[in-house]
Amino acid sequence: MISKKALVGAGLLASMLMMSSSALAQTVGFSQIGSESGWRAAETTLTLQQAEERGIDLKFADAQQKQENQIKALRSFIAQGVDAILIAPVVATGWDSVLEEAKEAEIPVILLDRMVDSSDDLYLTAVGSDLVHEGSVAGQWLVDALGGKDCNVVELQGTTGSSPAIDRKNGFEQAIEGHANVKLIRSQTGDFTRTKGKEVMESFLKAEDGGKNICALYAHNDDMAVGAIQAIKEAGLKPGEDILVVSIDAVPDIFQAMAAGEANATVELTPNMAGPAFDALAAYMKDGTMPPKFIQTESKLYTQADDPQAVYEQKKDLGY
Ligand code: AHR
Repeated sequence: MISKKALVGAGLLASMLMMSSSALAQTVGFSQIGSESGWRAAETTLTLQQAEERGIDLKFADAQQKQENQIKALRSFIAQGVDAILIAPVVATGWDSVLEEAKEAEIPVILLDRMVDSSDDLYLTAVGSDLVHEGSVAGQWLVDALGGKDCNVVELQGTTGSSPAIDRKNGFEQAIEGHANVKLIRSQTGDFTRTKGKEVMESFLKAEDGGKNICALYAHNDDMAVGAIQAIKEAGLKPGEDILVVSIDAVPDIFQAMAAGEANATVELTPNMAGPAFDALAAYMKDGTMPPKFIQTESKLYTQADDPQAVYEQKKDLGY
């Protein structure tokens, strides 16, 4: 026979379980930027996986690179009464009104991988890397690799107005400041895509004596670097030797390029931003635990010395 004490205990446990599951997020809206890069594809895959593992119903909206689509998606999530919203904001400005609407509706918002210029009381937390640091790690790698040799650098920037484009540029410039041998001679957006990275690199090569006047490329992401590598090869030069290549993300394709000697270094950005975001959200919904305003992910430098073929093998099936 089951004792009264055990029944009371079981009842308590059942009601505690009910309370904790109803306190957790059931439905979360996710406004993704689009699919401009391999890294973005991996972030989408991992966010869907992380949601599924936690039994969260994830409402996914692809904004096709447009802020207006993200704002529409957020308004639709608010109207549907989701428990929380994740957003990777395409650009940094222009979010105040919609974030205020979410706050008014008491729906916590978490930023993924990119930052906004709005007041930080309009979102619960932001999960991302130190974007300035990433740029400065890339710049420092180049300064060290050159060992004082003169070098004209061209830069492929990310999407204009996005926090990674702004911060990665600043970080790189900080690292090369005071090194008179390193000169940034051209800088233009390639919108984080392979196609535009190739196009813009072609124009840099044309403008700089077929590339003879260029010693290094700094690309704000690996996809643009991969496009640019193609352009360098088509111009009859050797990427990785005639023109050094340093970029950011650490997607599998850049490791293949590194293994072939065609790229030199990359700074890793983890695509798993959703895991820490859902953990912070669960704690907040359970008992109001406030996460820090910024949950920082790691940035690791990889070079040709890090067995790029082996890293490629580890990463190739991870959703990039
Ligand atoms: O916001 C992160 C950046 O966005 C990644 O570095 C880039 O590949 C993506 O498009």
